[in-house]
Amino acid sequence: MSLFEAALKVRENAHAPYSEFKVGAALRTASGEVFAGCNVENVAYPEGTCAEAGAIAAMVAAGQGDIVEILVMAKSDVPITPCGGCRQKISEFGTPETVIILASPTGTIGEVTLGELLPGSFTPAHLKGAK
Ligand code: THU
Repeated sequence: MSLFEAALKVRENAHAPYSEFKVGAALRTASGEVFAGCNVENVAYPEGTCAEAGAIAAMVAAGQGDIVEILVMAKSDVPITPCGGCRQKISEFGTPETVIILASPTGTIGEVTLGELLPGSFTPAHLKGAK
């Protein structure tokens, strides 16, 4: 299944009664598998989770961990990019070359790399450097 189809399908299941802003995300790992997730909001607002976090959790639960590309879809004229927290989450399993595809239900709007969205990111090298 394509990343676009997977995100389109999973976005329908988004639980977004508070923002009414449904998001779907689908990622492809180095082994070629596709994992998808949607945003899951909560009445206690900070407990909500982003679509990207759901896709990443599904990938890790399946025993995988290398993100090659990830597509994020929302119904918006302006391409939505992953929030700051999700950029860091993608960084945990990606590289600066990881491709982030921005899409709406009607098509792909743009493409950026993680390195463009999260320059100078906090990495394991920083942790090691402190020891
Ligand atoms: N949201 C995502 O799922 N991913 C993002 O990268 C940006 C924001 C969700 C969180 C919340 O449920 C809704 O969009 C509005 O912020």
